[in-house]
Amino acid sequence: MTGFNKTAGKLAMLCLLLLAVTSCDRENVISFSKDVRPVLDQNCMMCHQTGGEGEQASGFGMETYAALMKGTRFGPMIIAGDVEGSNMVVLMEGRADPSISMPHGQQQSISRQDIQTIRRWIEQGAKNN
Ligand code: HEC
Repeated sequence: MTGFNKTAGKLAMLCLLLLAVTSCDRENVISFSKDVRPVLDQNCMMCHQTGGEGEQASGFGMETYAALMKGTRFGPMIIAGDVEGSNMVVLMEGRADPSISMPHGQQQSISRQDIQTIRRWIEQGAKNN
């Protein structure tokens, strides 16, 4: 009887743990359309829409998810699941040469919180969600 109780107890613990983990996860899922898109619109779009100075100079457009994932004419700036390998993050964090830190020029730099949103979205696979 005690053996059964122990097993039942363990199962109950496991269920609680799983419940906690999955509900946490759901809260933390970053949405491209709801979370990432507004950050890009506010900080980057004026230069990275079709015909904008950033898009013209680098080929990096942000109007669509496909364009964003395609990157510049030299290659992708976002690598799904690999934050440190994503050049877009390096540039936003000002870790590259200051002359190419993003946003460019006189633009106010992007907030820590907005960068964090994009980092988490990339970590979670940079999905079109
Ligand atoms: C004021 C205009 C402007 C804004 C705002 C801007 N960019 Fe850019 N961006 C440029 C220009 C111009 C280039 C072309 C390359 C250069 O001059 O360094 C560029 C190039 C890039 C590149 C490619 C760099 C390379 O090595 O070719 C990335 C990635 C990038 N921008 C990301 C961003 C992100 C992310 C934001 C928003 C947080 C942003 N940009 C906001 C103007 C801008």
